[in-house]
Amino acid sequence: MLELLHKNKQQALSELQRAADSTALKEWRSRHLGKESALMQALGSLGSLPAAERPDIGRRANEIRRSLKAACQQRADELRRAELDATPAAVLDVTLPGRPVQRGRLHIATQTLRRIYAIWAEMGFQVYRSPDVETDEYNFELLNIPAHHPARDMWDTFHADTPGVILRTHTSPGQIHAMREYCPEPIRVILPGMCYRYEQITARSEIQFNQVEGLAVGKNIRFTDLKGTLSDFARRMFGASTGTRFRASHFPFTEPSAEMDIECFLCSGDGCSVCKHTGWLEILGCGMVHPTVLQNGGYDPREFTGFAFGMGPERIAMLKYGIEDIRYFWGNDLRFLEQF
Ligand code: DAH
Repeated sequence: MLELLHKNKQQALSELQRAADSTALKEWRSRHLGKESALMQALGSLGSLPAAERPDIGRRANEIRRSLKAACQQRADELRRAELDATPAAVLDVTLPGRPVQRGRLHIATQTLRRIYAIWAEMGFQVYRSPDVETDEYNFELLNIPAHHPARDMWDTFHADTPGVILRTHTSPGQIHAMREYCPEPIRVILPGMCYRYEQITARSEIQFNQVEGLAVGKNIRFTDLKGTLSDFARRMFGASTGTRFRASHFPFTEPSAEMDIECFLCSGDGCSVCKHTGWLEILGCGMVHPTVLQNGGYDPREFTGFAFGMGPERIAMLKYGIEDIRYFWGNDLRFLEQF
């Protein structure tokens, strides 16, 4: 038996020297080290040998297996080196500089959001997260928008199969969550997040987009606080000399309601195509929190007042960078994303 194993080993080693490429090497490995090989068969049948011979033969067979494996590895290295040597120098120029590694970056919406968070943090507002999946009650009812009220037309809604469950159409329902959690403490929060609307996708409207809501509740908060705070935000976001104006508007959850415009930062108010020659850009909706909404949040409207606002970071980025089509934001086209 020992003699046979030894002869096999010599045979294998001399065949190995003749294996000239990786295919031949693979064949060799299965012939001499594979399950069907004489060596592995011998190792497998050790149990049927007389007990006295077993340890000796077992040890020798294992030695042979180890040395064949090492020889095979060595042959593979030799072949690999020969292959490299045969490659013409022009193909592999080790003196060439490496290829630059592509660096990732934050999405333009994320960059804008982070800038907005930082400004509001400086002004004492903390981030409050509320869910993307909402109930009709939070998204509408508690915000003073009853079922069948025509005001609902402003928000085309994605409904889940479960009745009453929807994707939030705006970040305003977060106001109710925040109020119910903080009541009766004063509140200074911003509520950022993705919103969803069942819209025709066009250059100007998407079915998903971010909003940043803001909410301040306390005693003696007045419309002048709203104006001062939002004008301060505009100056921090768009430059110290940015002018603002407030136009009367309507939202069911605020009374009175307004929209804030900033002086067009591209033409400084002279009129250009971005501001449609008005000199002003609409940036956000806002207002004093409606008494009904305060009450739904747990606050007594005779004692507490508050202001709220909502803005669209993608819209702000579009104005700032002259992006003409909102579909670029979620289109995942690197040619767009790499510009920021
Ligand atoms: N939720 C409104 C929308 O999606 C935006 C908004 C307007 C939010 C006025 C507010 C607000 O908090 O006071 O159109």
